[in-house]
Amino acid sequence: MLSRKAKAVFYYAAGPLMQINGLIYRHFRAPKKGELKVHLGPGQKNYLDGWVNVDANTFTGKCDVWADLRNPLPFRNETVDAMYSHHVIEHLPNIEHHFKEAHRCLKPGGVYRVGGPNGDSAIAKFVENDKQWFGDFPDKRDSIGGRFENFVFCRQEHLTILTYSYLEEVMGKAGFINLQQCKCVKETNHPEFFQECLSKESESDFDVPHTLIVEGAKPAKGV
Ligand SMILES: C[S@@+](CC[C@H](N)C(=O)[O-])C[C@H]1O[C@@H](n2cnc3c(N)ncnc32)[C@H](O)[C@@H]1O
Repeated sequence: MLSRKAKAVFYYAAGPLMQINGLIYRHFRAPKKGELKVHLGPGQKNYLDGWVNVDANTFTGKCDVWADLRNPLPFRNETVDAMYSHHVIEHLPNIEHHFKEAHRCLKPGGVYRVGGPNGDSAIAKFVENDKQWFGDFPDKRDSIGGRFENFVFCRQEHLTILTYSYLEEVMGKAGFINLQQCKCVKETNHPEFFQECLSKESESDFDVPHTLIVEGAKPAKGV
């Protein structure tokens, strides 16, 4: 894992270039018509064919658009059919802004599947004192508190804790409807888009999942 300092230097140096690249893509290259599926933060291994994959890391991973997700998303208004992000938004400093941007880019009736570390499960497992559930990534920790801290903040890589009620509030305020929690790997309300994403997800505890997955839709015209 890149140190926090190295990451800060990277974003400081590359930030303006990513901003320009994102703006150029949005205004000159982003599709105006046709089906558009957007995958935010594919990372090193999760590139999805047939999707427009957006990431800041173009060095050890593969992406189609090099952009900083803290900026406005590099897509035109109401042009995206489906958006997918998995273990990405907890790295962003302002998820309210993120969901407003996702909502802006989605077509009416478009859908977003978003996943990240499951704060509800972590709190329950902390109260149960279940150290096994947490493991000891990224730092070796023996105590339940240390493991909980690992899970929630991941060596300060994560900037927020994701619980269902929090996502429901923030996504609802951004204008999303039909919000539903899904089981990682196994469940989607929109298989026409997200079936192929399920193979990229993993879960070792389906009763108390490590990943919180929520799907929501932008209201269709006239709703
Ligand atoms: C923990 S990885 C998750 C990768 C993959 N989605 C997965 O589930 O394994 C987080 C990804 O989000 C990307 N990311 C985090 N913050 C970002 C930002 N501000 N702009 C662009 N990409 C970002 C990282 O580069 C990385 O590829």
